[in-house]
Formats: sequence, C-alpha cells, structure tokens
Amino acid sequence: MSGFSAEWLALREPFDHAARSMALMEGFVAALRRDTVDRPVTIMDLGAGTGSALRSLAPLIDGDQQWILVDDTLGDEALSALATWAADHDWTTATSDGTQIIARPEGRIFVRLFSADLADLAALPLDETDGVVTSALLDLVSAEWISSLGIRICAAQLPFLAQLSVDGRTEFTPTHPADALVHKAFAEDQNRDKGFGPGLGAGAVEETQKCLRSLGYHVSSAQSDWSIAATDSAFMDALLDGLCQPASANPLTAADAETWLLERRKLVEARRLTTVIGHVDILALPQR
Ligand SMILES: C[S@@+](CC[C@H](N)C(=O)[O-])C[C@H]1O[C@@H](n2cnc3c(N)ncnc32)[C@H](O)[C@@H]1O
Repeated sequence: MSGFSAEWLALREPFDHAARSMALMEGFVAALRRDTVDRPVTIMDLGAGTGSALRSLAPLIDGDQQWILVDDTLGDEALSALATWAADHDWTTATSDGTQIIARPEGRIFVRLFSADLADLAALPLDETDGVVTSALLDLVSAEWISSLGIRICAAQLPFLAQLSVDGRTEFTPTHPADALVHKAFAEDQNRDKGFGPGLGAGAVEETQKCLRSLGYHVSSAQSDWSIAATDSAFMDALLDGLCQPASANPLTAADAETWLLERRKLVEARRLTTVIGHVDILALPQR
C-alpha cells in the first residue's frame, strides 16, 4: 500500500474494478471527442500504473482507440499486464513503432507509453488527446498541481475522469481501540510532499471538484468504495501493512501500532475482519 509495485497494483485491481462507477465511466466515454480524422479517439491516463483504467474503460469503447499511458516507472509492467489481459480474452497483441496494438473484434487498442514525471504538466501532449483519466493518483498531489492540471484540461476542453480518490473513510468491523491512531498517522503521512507539493490526501476530492467547477466544468461524483470481505485475506494483509506503516515508523506510536497489526492479523486469519475504504470517482465535463 505504501509503494506502487506491480504486485500491489495487481492485488488491488479486482477491488478497483468492482468499485469504479460504471455510470461515470459511461458518461466519460459518451463525452469523448470523436471528430479527429487523423487518429483514433485518444485517452491519456495520468499515473497509469500497469494499465488498470484501460482494462476497465476500453471495453466500453467501440471502434479503434488509442491510449497514452503516462507513468515514470511502470511502463514495461503495463505492456506485460496488457498482453496478459489480451491473451486472457483471446485477442492478439502486436508491436509496431513502439506502439502495442491489441486487436479486439470491436476495434484495435493502440497503447503508447509516455514515460515522464507528472510534476511537469507542461510536457504532456494534451493536444493529441480527446479525454484524460487518472485513478488512485490525486491523493498524492497538491492543490497547486490540481489547479495547473485543471487549467490545461479546460484550455483543451477535454472530459476528465478521476477515479478511486480516497475520501478518508476507513471502517473496520469489528473496530479496535487503536484504529483512530493508525488512521490519523496515515492521514498525516498523506500530506507529505510526494513530488507535487504538499499532498492533499483525502482533501483531493473536494479540491478537484471545486477547481473544475470554478473553470466552468460540469462536475458529478459517485462513491467507489472498496468493500473487503473477511475471505479476502491476501489483500487485507497488504492493506493492513500499508495503513500501519506511518504509525509504526513513529517511535511515539510504534508499540500501539504493532499491537494493532498483530491483533488485526489474527482476525484476518480467523476470517472475521471486514473493511470499507471510502473512495470517490469524479467526472468533469466541459459545458458544450
Ligand atoms: C496508486 S498508483 C495507481 C496506478 C493506476 N492508476 C491504477 O489505478 O492502478 C499511482 C501511480 O502513479 C505513478 N506516479 C506517482 N508519482 C508519479 C510521478 N511524479 N510521475 C509519473 N508517475 C507517477 C506511480 O508510478 C503509480 O503507477
């Protein structure tokens, strides 16, 4: 949970897919600009990881489509995960001029990697793009970064879908006396600078909506919570480790955090712990 390893992203993907708002995804797809004649409809994914957003959205789009996956580390892992996804569906994969091409019966998916530091928004080729998505990224960024992104998206009048931003709700059943301590340390850690200025953490949801509304966009949102069942032990264990990490790293709270983790793990082993982690999806559309 603390890093962006391909293993962690693979563990969370089924929960992300179950959580993403279908209504907002359909709204985004319907709003994609399709009047460009020299290329297929093109979507840019900011902080694409291994391409999870593509795997959830691409099947909703008929005809050819192109994806620009922006990430500073996971490009190779994305191509590999997409090739596996294609093979699982009996779709063929080829590569031409550095572009991965997945052939579905409904149309081809052209995948281009754009390896870049997202802190530098000016470098993004938004003029080659018909819509922008991001998922599980906004809690890392600052209000200033959201404002700069909003201005660029608005200048190009692009639809924007921001999925799976944490909203600060962590609900364990049963509760534990140290839940609040662990949660507080985690929330404080989210406010550290992750390379984009002071991190917004759960505040990103409100900041993003406010920013895009102020730019004249029509903004809607939907909850996209993770519901983690008592039987989802591998994911639950990884989640507990990540949640506990900031409290464990602080000498003042380390002992309580250790006890919390041990007692939480025992409940996972007994298949008696369930969790809801609150997320919000945001769809922002230019008023046309
Ligand atoms: C929590 S992961 C989400 C990945 C993917 N969007 C998903 O939903 O599975 C955040 C992603 O942002 C990328 N990332 C974080 N900071 C970045 C930066 N400064 N520039 C480019 N990518 C960055 C990470 O490499 C990681 O793949």
